[in-house]
Amino acid sequence: MKLFKKISVSVILALVCLCVFGGFTIPKEDTEALVTVYCSDGRILFLSPEDAEEYSESDGWSDDFSEITVDIWNTAGDNRLVLENKLSSYTAGGWSDNIEDVSVLMRNRDGKEKYVFKDYVEEYRSKDWEEVAKIKLEKASNIKAIALTFDDGPSNSQTDRLLDILDGNNAKATFFVLGKSVGNGSDCLKRMIELGMEIGSHGYDHTQLTKLDNSALEKHIQDTNAKIKEASGAEPTLLRPPYGSYNEAVKSAAGVPIVLWSVDTLDWKSRNADAVYSETMRSVRDGSIILYHDIYESTVDAIERLLPELKAEGYELVTVSELAEIKGKPLTAGAVVTNF
Ligand code: NI
Repeated sequence: MKLFKKISVSVILALVCLCVFGGFTIPKEDTEALVTVYCSDGRILFLSPEDAEEYSESDGWSDDFSEITVDIWNTAGDNRLVLENKLSSYTAGGWSDNIEDVSVLMRNRDGKEKYVFKDYVEEYRSKDWEEVAKIKLEKASNIKAIALTFDDGPSNSQTDRLLDILDGNNAKATFFVLGKSVGNGSDCLKRMIELGMEIGSHGYDHTQLTKLDNSALEKHIQDTNAKIKEASGAEPTLLRPPYGSYNEAVKSAAGVPIVLWSVDTLDWKSRNADAVYSETMRSVRDGSIILYHDIYESTVDAIERLLPELKAEGYELVTVSELAEIKGKPLTAGAVVTNF
């Protein structure tokens, strides 16, 4: 055994000498061959470029270490680099990969701003620093903003085009959809959610809700909500009863705020883009909730012309819930709102 060890040591020494003094060279293609690939579970492999490429394209693997790791913080400001697939166990313990989740933007009397980790907010407050979010909210009521709302859709022919136009103008809107129509368009409701639009219920089939008895009313609202959730992934956040018709029973069955309107463009009657345009520009005010229907081509034509002009007049185009927040008038279930 001892002899074997001696021989092994000699062989290794000889190899080292060969390498150092040039008697033995590693083939060039081998030195270039190895690529390091990392797995989000912590495994590390050294592979040929071809294998590495294959691995890098499979789930959880990358040849870039930063792609499988995330920077995380806690409310005390501690910072760690952890494997991506361990993130959830950290977030359960109050860590986050978004520094804004664990800190608050604060400002002092000289106007200096900085992010303060939540554990230190009280300390900063006692030194006269204030949370910027609160300051923003107080100033928000000075923002000119309106909510465009669209009823009776989605429509196979118009809603996708309307979403393109809204998206192209960076505008948000609220859609009061009919439960029976949620399958129209190409995944319209999911797209609305993705684009930051708000979805409200307009009932299942435009039945006048005040004509239903209590149990039918309850079922009508619940069935519609279920349809909307199935198509969009989320429950509707608002209700606009057909014909704007509501009573105490509708208010108590709604479960969400009831939203009417302050500007009726009568687009369903005129079916004329110029008329819809003029009526909007004539009636719009800060805080307006404007009623349209996304089932008419003339309405969508009017919106295409209106968006740049409303923006030029300084209006922010937001959803109904955003408008409520901007105006500092939070909505509550069953409460009826016509404008802000
Ligand atoms: Ni309607």
